[in-house]
Amino acid sequence: MAGKAPYYLTTPIYYVNDVPHIGHAYTTLACDVLARFKRLDGWDVKFLTGTDEHGQKVEKSARAAGIEPQAFADRVSRNFSDLPAVMKFTNDDFIRTTEPRHHHACHALWQALQANGHIYLGSYSGWYAVRDEAFYGEDELRDGPGGKKIAPTGADCEWVEEPSYFFRLSAWQQPLLDFYQANPDFILPPGKRNEVVAFVRGGLRDLSISRTTFDWGIRVPGDERHIMYVWLDALANYITAVGYPDTGAETPYARYWPADLHMVGKDILRFHAVYWPAFLMAAGLAPPRRVFAHGWWTIEGQKMSKSLGNVIAPETLVASYGLDATRYFLMREVPFGNDGDFSHRAMVNRINGDLANDYGNLVQRVLSMIGKNCGAAVPQPGPLVEADQGLLGAAYALLDIARTELAGQAFHRMLDAFWAVIGAGNRYVDEQAPWALRKTDPARMATVLYVLAETIRQLGILTQPVMPDASARILDQLAVAEGDRGFDRLGPDHALVAGTPLPAPRGVFPRYVDESPGR
Ligand code: MSP
Repeated sequence: MAGKAPYYLTTPIYYVNDVPHIGHAYTTLACDVLARFKRLDGWDVKFLTGTDEHGQKVEKSARAAGIEPQAFADRVSRNFSDLPAVMKFTNDDFIRTTEPRHHHACHALWQALQANGHIYLGSYSGWYAVRDEAFYGEDELRDGPGGKKIAPTGADCEWVEEPSYFFRLSAWQQPLLDFYQANPDFILPPGKRNEVVAFVRGGLRDLSISRTTFDWGIRVPGDERHIMYVWLDALANYITAVGYPDTGAETPYARYWPADLHMVGKDILRFHAVYWPAFLMAAGLAPPRRVFAHGWWTIEGQKMSKSLGNVIAPETLVASYGLDATRYFLMREVPFGNDGDFSHRAMVNRINGDLANDYGNLVQRVLSMIGKNCGAAVPQPGPLVEADQGLLGAAYALLDIARTELAGQAFHRMLDAFWAVIGAGNRYVDEQAPWALRKTDPARMATVLYVLAETIRQLGILTQPVMPDASARILDQLAVAEGDRGFDRLGPDHALVAGTPLPAPRGVFPRYVDESPGR
């Protein structure tokens, strides 16, 4: 750890009223790709995920299941903590808001807000949507069937009237606007940033941060009748996990806070980009460095929902298409930040096109030619001509491109850049025709195959964050040692050594044979 720069990134914590589906897996996957990338690039990464277990919504679901909320939360939380094994997520911690460490941090945060004069007791009367665990103003609602009031998200609202503690959010309008202005990349993508800025410019109402009409949550310190608002409780998880309120020198808090990135879906941006920095500033703590709001997935053109029966579990995707293809598809199919549609067709196109025909074909034909014609060892290159230097140069340039793209969470553009080199590699094979050189100029054939193998080494190292298993198989076939797979090994200084024996080649990206073409 010594000498490495810290990088702290988080997923939202998932409500335990639901089973994990591809929407949840998507948020965590994006973080996992970043976490793996940063580790390979020499950073000291802390990657946090977990479950959001309090609140009325979970209490209701537990009641519907006929069990106590804690037992219910224990059961459902396990579905989320099992997800890393399915998707190969490499989170360093898994937080549950029912843990004592979190209770402790929430109390401390409340007390800091109170001590700084940002909390007052009042009474709330207004609209609340349990599904969103959010309050709405009358002006935001529309009328639904049977006299119901409907939130902009489509959730049913209920009228609530009860004593409540309030957070002086109204006082944070200007400080928030100043903060957004001073940190133009705090909210990404830019379109989402503009929405948040417009919302805050429109004026902020004080926020009700406690409830008295249900039990399942963290009690307000000093006033046991009140339960802390579940979003205040939930957001605090990000500082609990770095040991808040222990903020002294040499603590995890000092090392990792402020977080480098909170990755969230677009539906929960307001909580992260407005309420959370306001709470933190009010408590005298630093706001996070970035909140990125990604888009939502539909399934075969439809909204995912239990009632439509089209909810896809991550296990199902991995079982049907394989881990690497699933991870690749989710990161490549949609420009990160936009909404996207999952369809079987689109998935099969990616598997058979990008993976089998492009990347797989490049790797397979090169490795099998080396296996057959170069004594199953890394070939000995001769002098390089312009075409060789062009391909290698493009491959060696990828790390900088990838760093730049991921600095803005543009996963798709990073992959586009990798595929540009894969395409160039396949064209180079066709142009150089090493199979024809075998008889006419074996030395030149060796050079061409060497250039290709070295290009594949770059690609194999760089695709590890997205496709850990397939990339490992590619690097195994090039006899790249486990310890030589970090980004510090990219580039010409650690190029393949001629004569290194190579194992027998085997396919890395199988084609998907569609047995249901009508789908
Ligand atoms: N518990 C809150 C977050 C608290 S963070 C302090 C919550 N949980 S959630 O389980 O409802 O949603 C978690 C994440 O899953 C959100 O980022 C949400 O955007 C994401 N997704 C849920 N359905 C989704 C899709 N269909 N597509 C993409 N992401 C979606 O909100």
